[in-house]
Amino acid sequence: MDRTRITIFDTTLRDGEQSPGCSMNVQEKMRMAYQLDRLGVDVIEAGFPIASDGDFEAVQKIGATFSRPVVCGLARACQQDIDRAAQALKGAARPRIHVFLATSDIHLQHKLRISREKCLQQAAEAVRLAKSYCDDIEFSPEDATRTDIDFLCHVLEAVIQAGATTLNIPDTVGYSAPADFGALIQTIRQRVRGVDKVVISAHCHNDLGLAVANSLAAVAAGARQVECAINGIGERAGNAALEEIVMTLRVRPDQYPYDTGVLSEHLFPASQMLCEITGAPIQPNKAIVGRNAFAHAAGIHQDGMLKNPLTYEIITPQSVGVPDSTLVLGKHSGRHALNQRCEKLGYTFDRRELDEVYRRFVLLADRIKTVEDHHLQELVREARGAKPAASDRGEAAKTAAAAAAQNGGRGPLDMMIPPPAEATPSVLSRNRTPEHHGEQEDYLWGV
Ligand code: KIV
Ligand code: ZN
Repeated sequence: MDRTRITIFDTTLRDGEQSPGCSMNVQEKMRMAYQLDRLGVDVIEAGFPIASDGDFEAVQKIGATFSRPVVCGLARACQQDIDRAAQALKGAARPRIHVFLATSDIHLQHKLRISREKCLQQAAEAVRLAKSYCDDIEFSPEDATRTDIDFLCHVLEAVIQAGATTLNIPDTVGYSAPADFGALIQTIRQRVRGVDKVVISAHCHNDLGLAVANSLAAVAAGARQVECAINGIGERAGNAALEEIVMTLRVRPDQYPYDTGVLSEHLFPASQMLCEITGAPIQPNKAIVGRNAFAHAAGIHQDGMLKNPLTYEIITPQSVGVPDSTLVLGKHSGRHALNQRCEKLGYTFDRRELDEVYRRFVLLADRIKTVEDHHLQELVREARGAKPAASDRGEAAKTAAAAAAQNGGRGPLDMMIPPPAEATPSVLSRNRTPEHHGEQEDYLWGV
């Protein structure tokens, strides 16, 4: 069955670059635009042509280079901006001018210092002018979610009559909750004359961490375009994260029976490229593209993952372009994960050896947080009694020595590890016999 298609409007190169520290020059925007095209976004908002010569050039080049996606330039609702945007988009195969004007009383009184009447007239005039250059016109009533609903509906009706083809509803200050935002979209669909001839779009900011939830609520209420940015970058707390919206639609068709044209295996490369270009890192626990999104640390989880990844992953890493899941070896790891990593390093153990390596591993992990492969190699050598020469002790010993120095100067790795277990049996191991190797063992041991 064909699902309803949601237009993915990418604003990484416009709202996204308004993120402090994320501005991009023309070459950087071009590089990113190639990746957005590969990703399959429907609209690339390439910049704000009046803002700078560089932004003008970026919109111009991106517009002239790409013929599949719509390429969009932003303009305030005034002649100067609209003329400049139209000029930048002259050579574009699929140009769109995006006109915006604030409509909330807070913005009208304190920022623009104009009346509602003036705002209504200016919005319609601006859209008419933009329409004289280009068929595809998007209008955004800035701060829509704090705008009086009757006035908002009037403005939207006026801009439809003036030729707008997309009505974008911005939650400019990230104030909405999903139920409010969904209800707002529904009200607009019910009350604005001519709304059935245009596309309704959502543009959500993340000040309360609700940008993705609000965007999805808008889709459920009838919005058919979502504005979003790679890694969720954007003004202040950012825009809705493109990768989170796309993957939610993909993973939960039962809740959201909609499709996008995004090729999800290009999500992680796009995220990485953006980090590289802007130098802005993403939080490790960021959904979909963060370093830890497919990393498992707890022994119970690692054991489950080794038995079947479905136990702890709802998305395969490969489906979003992440090379593989990782099992991070640390103090929460169990023997199953340790054994598997050691096998990859070329070691095979009998049960008794594994017990000894594991005992040493846990002690080391307690001190150095993450146990890397070279630590393991060192540890196995020592567990097997082949003590390395003092000059050849390697990183594990150095790290352990440093940890030991902090810990009362008790010397290198082997000095830090007490003799085998009898003296301090774990509660779970106390009554174990060598035959006690059931399926559940790592589950219990790996905590
Ligand atoms: O957040 C906002 O209101 C905007 C508009 C220009 C759409 O970015
Ligand atoms: Zn915005």
